[in-house]
Amino acid sequence: MTTALITGATAGIGAAFARRLAADGYSLVLVARDTKRLREQATELHDRHGIEAEVLTADLATEDGITAVEERLASRRDPVDLLVNNAGFGNKGQFLEVSLADELTMLKVHCEAVLRLTSAATAAMRERRRGGVVNVASVAAFVPRGTYGASKAWVVQFTQGVARDLAGTGIRLMALCPGFVRTEFHQRAGMGTDNIPKWMWLDADKLVAAALTDLARGKTLSIPDPRYKALMGVVKMTPRALLGGVTSRTGRKYGPR
Ligand SMILES: NC(=O)c1ccc[n+]([C@@H]2O[C@H](COP(=O)([O-])OP(=O)(O)OC[C@H]3O[C@@H](n4cnc5c(N)ncnc54)[C@H](OP(=O)(O)O)[C@@H]3O)[C@@H](O)[C@H]2O)c1
Repeated sequence: MTTALITGATAGIGAAFARRLAADGYSLVLVARDTKRLREQATELHDRHGIEAEVLTADLATEDGITAVEERLASRRDPVDLLVNNAGFGNKGQFLEVSLADELTMLKVHCEAVLRLTSAATAAMRERRRGGVVNVASVAAFVPRGTYGASKAWVVQFTQGVARDLAGTGIRLMALCPGFVRTEFHQRAGMGTDNIPKWMWLDADKLVAAALTDLARGKTLSIPDPRYKALMGVVKMTPRALLGGVTSRTGRKYGPR
């Protein structure tokens, strides 16, 4: 039996990973903070696809939460074959408008948890000489965009570096860099989305399908949409000062209108 552990599995991109991997016959370990929602999702996926879905309630902004997921990933009795580090969130506002405590929580969830869970998972996978890790970053990794963009840039650099270090061990690692995806992300952060053009929105299920194709192809970086691939090509050639003027505001500052 092949097992995948998904963090942030109750909503948005994580829920799309859960649906797709369940349809593919994976057993699942679903991680998030909301136990009721996790249980409902596990039941639905079990009933629809006949797979085993385990619920692991954990807040990845806490020591106890990260430790609980590390311990599950380290299990030799019920091994995890695919880890999807997806849990994440945005903070509304620019630097000094967001509290330092909220910035540090973001680094804990986006960086420390990703580091520790990747470490726990790959140590166990290396013994079995197979496994995969998808770390969900963002195209914000490539533009000046405060702590959020910086944390996602860390995810990209970290993932590609580890992929190189573990080459030849049978473990695949890939950083997934979505553009804007219709999920609960912006609403949870209280961010307005009126200033984001319609063409920039991606569908979570299509995103996940493209990401898994990229993982199977052995890519270490996935930007799974032609629109964003083209956009990132332009970004590479644009002076950072100009880029910062546009990207640091989009979808960050304003509340719902
Ligand atoms: N949506 C976008 O436009 C977009 C673009 C690029 C990258 N991303 C990235 O994609 C990932 C998923 O975001 P999404 O858009 O799917 O957001 P979402 O719909 O808001 O879902 C976030 C998920 O993360 C979980 N979560 C949040 N904080 C957590 C914590 N401290 N501990 C454990 N679980 C936690 C939430 O569940 P609970 O509340 O139950 O814990 C939920 O399942 C994030 O890393 C985000 O940065 C999103």
